[in-house]
Amino acid sequence: MRMAGLRCALAARVALLAIGFGVLPGIAAAETVLITGANSGIGLEFTKQYAARGWDVIATHRRSGTPKTLAEVVARYPKVRVETLDVTNVEQARALAAKLADVPIDILINNAGVYNDRRSCKPGDDTCPGDWSTQTFGKMYYPLLDTILAVNVKGPLIVSEAFYENVKKSKLKKIVAISSSNGTLTGEKPPRPGAIFYRTSKAALNRSMQIVASSVKNDGVTVVMLNPGPTLTEHQSYLRGEYKGMLETSFTVGHMIRTIDKVTLAETGSFLRYDGAVEPW
Ligand SMILES: NC(=O)c1ccc[n+]([C@@H]2O[C@H](COP(=O)([O-])OP(=O)(O)OC[C@H]3O[C@@H](n4cnc5c(N)ncnc54)[C@H](OP(=O)(O)O)[C@@H]3O)[C@@H](O)[C@H]2O)c1
Repeated sequence: MRMAGLRCALAARVALLAIGFGVLPGIAAAETVLITGANSGIGLEFTKQYAARGWDVIATHRRSGTPKTLAEVVARYPKVRVETLDVTNVEQARALAAKLADVPIDILINNAGVYNDRRSCKPGDDTCPGDWSTQTFGKMYYPLLDTILAVNVKGPLIVSEAFYENVKKSKLKKIVAISSSNGTLTGEKPPRPGAIFYRTSKAALNRSMQIVASSVKNDGVTVVMLNPGPTLTEHQSYLRGEYKGMLETSFTVGHMIRTIDKVTLAETGSFLRYDGAVEPW
């Protein structure tokens, strides 16, 4: 009886040492993911699903205080670390990277995005769909173009550059940009009118991240652009039942996580659908 107890204790110590040295597959130290725009929609769902997997999640947002949605996630998953990051603010991104200097980031998800005009939405009204009409030819509201390009194109460059050393020193070394089929140049013949700013921004995002991918390939860093597909986020909930093609957020994010798991350096620079299918440029 005593011998069996001793053997058990010894086995437990060996297992602990093996985990510590990363010898046992699947139970080594948790990987880390940093997500931008993590307080709503797709970013919030990434936060929840990675947290449920037991990963170390750095969930970033641009609000002045912790958003309620993220406070609720932390209450359930206390390991989730919430940080402030406006992706258009270079100084803030660099300051956060300095604060996280010792933290390897396995997966950096550039998710934050703006797609339409939310001037008429009340603050905190997550179900407000926003206005698409002010980016239609003949009705263009140009300050919206500045915002969309700043968040959707400049933001991912700022964030990828600022946290590059964290990614480089991680195990998985992956940078993801959440793009859209709206950025396609060849997949839509002829292109439908409308949403000029948003669609242009995603085309520019794809091109910029494609070039980032070739710039960092020699460091073993994989960069991919993902199209989540038409996802029923809080802001898009008005489309439920309206448009048959809409997909649940948990579904598209679950698929994107599996695609991110699978993607390797061989596919760096690719534009992929949520389920890993190749998207037309
Ligand atoms: N839902 C879809 O069907 C769909 C389809 C294709 C692509 N996408 C892309 O998926 C990504 C997420 O979109 P979503 O549908 O989840 O939209 P969402 O619910 O509106 O989420 C967008 C997030 O980006 C944040 N954000 C905006 N400006 C920011 C800034 N300057 N700094 C940091 N964060 C900022 C927002 O923060 P606030 O709450 O503070 O505004 C919010 O957390 C976007 O890149 C979008 O283009 C979505």
